[in-house]
Amino acid sequence: MEFSIKTSLTEKQHHNCVVVGVYEGRELSDAAQVIDGLSSGYISKVLAHGDLEGKLDSSLVLHQVPGVQAERVLLVGLGKKAELAEKQYCKAVRASVKALSALGADEVLTTLVALPVAGADVRKKVSLLAETALDASYRFDAIKRKPDATEEKAAKKGIKTLHIEIVASSDVAAAELGLLDGKAIGAGVSLTKDLGNLPPNVCTPTYLAEQAQGMAKTYGLKVEVLEREEMQKLGMGSFLGVAQGSEQPPKLIVLQHLKGDGNQKPVVLVGKGITFDTGGISLKPGAEMDEMKYDMCGAATVLGVFKTIAEMNLPLNVVGVIPTCENMPDGRATRPGDVLTSMSGLTIEVLNTDAEGRLILCDALTYAERFEPSAVVDIATLTGACVIALGHHATGLFSNNDALAKELLQAGEQALDRAWHMPMWDDYQPLLDSNFADIANIGGRAAGSITAACFLSRFAKKYDWAHLDIAGTAWKSGKEKGGTGRPVPMLAAFLAARAGQNR
Ligand code: BES
Ligand code: MN
Ligand code: ZN
Repeated sequence: MEFSIKTSLTEKQHHNCVVVGVYEGRELSDAAQVIDGLSSGYISKVLAHGDLEGKLDSSLVLHQVPGVQAERVLLVGLGKKAELAEKQYCKAVRASVKALSALGADEVLTTLVALPVAGADVRKKVSLLAETALDASYRFDAIKRKPDATEEKAAKKGIKTLHIEIVASSDVAAAELGLLDGKAIGAGVSLTKDLGNLPPNVCTPTYLAEQAQGMAKTYGLKVEVLEREEMQKLGMGSFLGVAQGSEQPPKLIVLQHLKGDGNQKPVVLVGKGITFDTGGISLKPGAEMDEMKYDMCGAATVLGVFKTIAEMNLPLNVVGVIPTCENMPDGRATRPGDVLTSMSGLTIEVLNTDAEGRLILCDALTYAERFEPSAVVDIATLTGACVIALGHHATGLFSNNDALAKELLQAGEQALDRAWHMPMWDDYQPLLDSNFADIANIGGRAAGSITAACFLSRFAKKYDWAHLDIAGTAWKSGKEKGGTGRPVPMLAAFLAARAGQNR
């Protein structure tokens, strides 16, 4: 989808569809009033028939409205006028894009940015509009058979160019900035979804490494991919203990976006990159095991965030560290009871080979020390217990520093991509005691997402650190199965704020 910013002066140009909002109670927005005036009250008449009440998530396509140049007018419900905040605004944007997805209207003019939205200026409204429109029109068909001519035509339906009407010409500069933000976030989210959605026989550790190398080339980033032998030399026995049951060689991907001052300490993002999690010898049950292809969504998030901040040209130093491998059962695989020696020197008793995410992350966290980070944030589809605790709405947030936790919470609120702060009190740490090693890799069924975070905290003592458990938020199951691209928007907002830019 392409975008363009239009001032009211160009409004009279021809479009296939004009999108205008209607509040609950059939109240017309300013733009709807304009259309109503042009059409001698046609919109009011349609509403009087009771075809649209103005509820959020509703819409109505009108054809050949008298006095209006555009072939269609799309009325979209805005909900209660007093309640129109960013979240409701995004819902209306999404509904408008979805309503047009199967139609032939490819040049669309939207007037939704002119709506007064609580807490949002023009830049933010345009940014959210572009981000939401890209999210709502996302399709994954990379792996499907090449379409024939008719299918190709059907697939091309939906909005080609979304023209964004800006009423005051003094707002155009802000709108252009918002468009850059929204497109950058949309591109990052889309990359994260794509990587998650790819099948695990395609999206292997080697594939992820190639993607990172490709991105580094495109955007002029520094990239390094460490192979098994180099990791052996570094003493990453924990990571390699997980990788040893797979035919796929493990990779440690290190990406660097160095656009801040030379002496500025970097933020390090660490992403869990298990390209398929069978559980290993502690084999998972069969139902829905296919979804464990999404166990690399932490890695995909890091790559998505790098795309976003590269597109934004964010003046900040950011390092991405991605440990990636498969967790497979095999004659060579790690057994329950095995003891692994991590890069930090701590020995780990593997009581369950399905708690593998923490085993690859701990060595990556130790590796991150060499960058003298200002903060380290890891992102991981770490525990089923986090899904039980928070469901699919909030990402679990754990941290050894309350100020850092607060920054991430606020970024999540701002980006409409929220996290919830979970406790990580010392009281939980003894659950990880082992009779045979320095630490066990599981802490029992109770508080499973907390003990997983406690495990990681043992390897993150030398810096400010936060952990995002995205097990419930990274993808959707069921009929809408697919990656969500979360928490790219949250992390983009976090990094933008760190770069001194509040968006
Ligand atoms: N990748 C899974 C976590 C997961 C499970 C995410 C289901 C989303 C949905 C992780 O590696 C795992 O298997 N964790 C175990 C830990 C347990 C063995 C302590 C879990 O959550 O069951
Ligand atoms: Mn697992
Ligand atoms: Zn896993």
